[in-house]
Amino acid sequence: MQYSQKVLDHFMHPHNVGKMENPDATATEGSPACGDQVTVYLKVNDETKIIEDISFLSYGCASNIATASIITDMAKGKTLEEAKKITWRDAMEALDGLPPVKVHCSVLAADTLQSAISNYEIAHGLKEVPNFSKETIEQELKKIIYPQVGEDIIALKMVKYIGFKDGEVIIDMNMMKFDQWRDNIADEIKEHLQKYPEVKKITINFP
Ligand code: FES
Repeated sequence: MQYSQKVLDHFMHPHNVGKMENPDATATEGSPACGDQVTVYLKVNDETKIIEDISFLSYGCASNIATASIITDMAKGKTLEEAKKITWRDAMEALDGLPPVKVHCSVLAADTLQSAISNYEIAHGLKEVPNFSKETIEQELKKIIYPQVGEDIIALKMVKYIGFKDGEVIIDMNMMKFDQWRDNIADEIKEHLQKYPEVKKITINFP
């Protein structure tokens, strides 16, 4: 597998690694695709809302460690509003790219940063716990990467329809019967959605 020099540098000498004592917010996320995990810790200035310190722990692969390293560099010194705009695509670009099958690793790191920010905002009354809706489902589906091309399934227009009624999520997919990733994607969709208590049943239809 071909990694850029930047990925290798950040993997071998990661920045901002370690558990933080008394963080203002933290989040841990796992990747359904591989079972790996990342934790992000934040120290936020109460007045300015600037991320004064940030660190991470990773139980993930090289790409995951490299992305967590670069994304924590990118977020440090930024306001929460600025840091909210950092996406996995930005992190991947800053690393000079990742092999397509490794894109989900950067999604995991970026997602954990966003969850830590969200946890800070909820704990400090800056936002309400969001209601579960079709938008939540779409946001989750945007985190699922089709490994062959390293793009998310929404961007690739693989999702035809999203429905949510009486606790049941219905998703119509636009994937060929013989697609080798079909079962993996279906499993990932389930793992992403079943963590929400509002979701009682998940039905995924393929053509
Ligand atoms: Fe699991 Fe990279 S393979 S995070």
